[in-house]
Amino acid sequence: MTVPKTSRRLWWPALMAVSAIGIAAYAVPPYLTGNPADSNVPIDPDVALHYLSLAVHALPGGLALIIGPFQFMARLRARRPRLHRVAGRIYMISVLLASGAALFAATFSLGGLSVQVAFYLLVAAWLYTLVRAYQSIRRGDARLHRIWMIRNYALTFAAVTLRLYLVTGLMLKQSFTSLPFDELYNASVWASVLVNVVVAEYFIIQRTLAPRARQRGQAAPASTAAVAG
Ligand code: HEM
Repeated sequence: MTVPKTSRRLWWPALMAVSAIGIAAYAVPPYLTGNPADSNVPIDPDVALHYLSLAVHALPGGLALIIGPFQFMARLRARRPRLHRVAGRIYMISVLLASGAALFAATFSLGGLSVQVAFYLLVAAWLYTLVRAYQSIRRGDARLHRIWMIRNYALTFAAVTLRLYLVTGLMLKQSFTSLPFDELYNASVWASVLVNVVVAEYFIIQRTLAPRARQRGQAAPASTAAVAG
């Protein structure tokens, strides 16, 4: 049985939407209560704004996480272009707010230097890819805009993969009791960023660049023949 092309295109944004909503519903609520004791990461008692920075980060971060997959649904984009533009602006503002607060939160993270460096690089890449995506759509280059947004959302999605790695690691920790939590956290943060970046690049090459290159390759002999003739 052959799967229709539209269903094949829809499965990955649908899968991302379900996991994004699930992780946002699990991770964000502790920062809506206003009580630092609800935080899932240790709060530095000497830094008055630490919990607030996590709240200001988690709320727009969760919003961007949920909006993202719907922006990749080609049918929705074609049918509701205005909705795509409005949601895109909300996504952009959310990433900007979440990034600013993440810089503060990273500075006071009790996860150690390696975790802090990973988060700083993640913020830089998050903002850079966002700016490139915005610039390309302002120039009317929708194909490049899509490529930069795949890169950008892959970074947003690190919030999902980080938590999946952490939960898996915590389950493994029950068997390998010597595994310190700090090392598990550190490895999960780095893996969440690196694996997502590699998967995004693979996706961009396989789905976007390779088909075009093949098309051009097929067209080239014909045009060469025309020139020769
Ligand atoms: C992709 C760029 C992101 C960066 C650079 C980033 C950075 C950070 C940093 C530095 C912390 C503090 C961690 C610590 O103290 O060790 C944090 C925590 C948190 N982040 Fe992000 N984050 C990003 C994306 C997101 C997204 C998209 C969400 C959406 C749910 C999110 C939700 C949270 C939550 C809820 C926390 C509190 C910790 C927890 O309860 O798990 N982050 N983030």
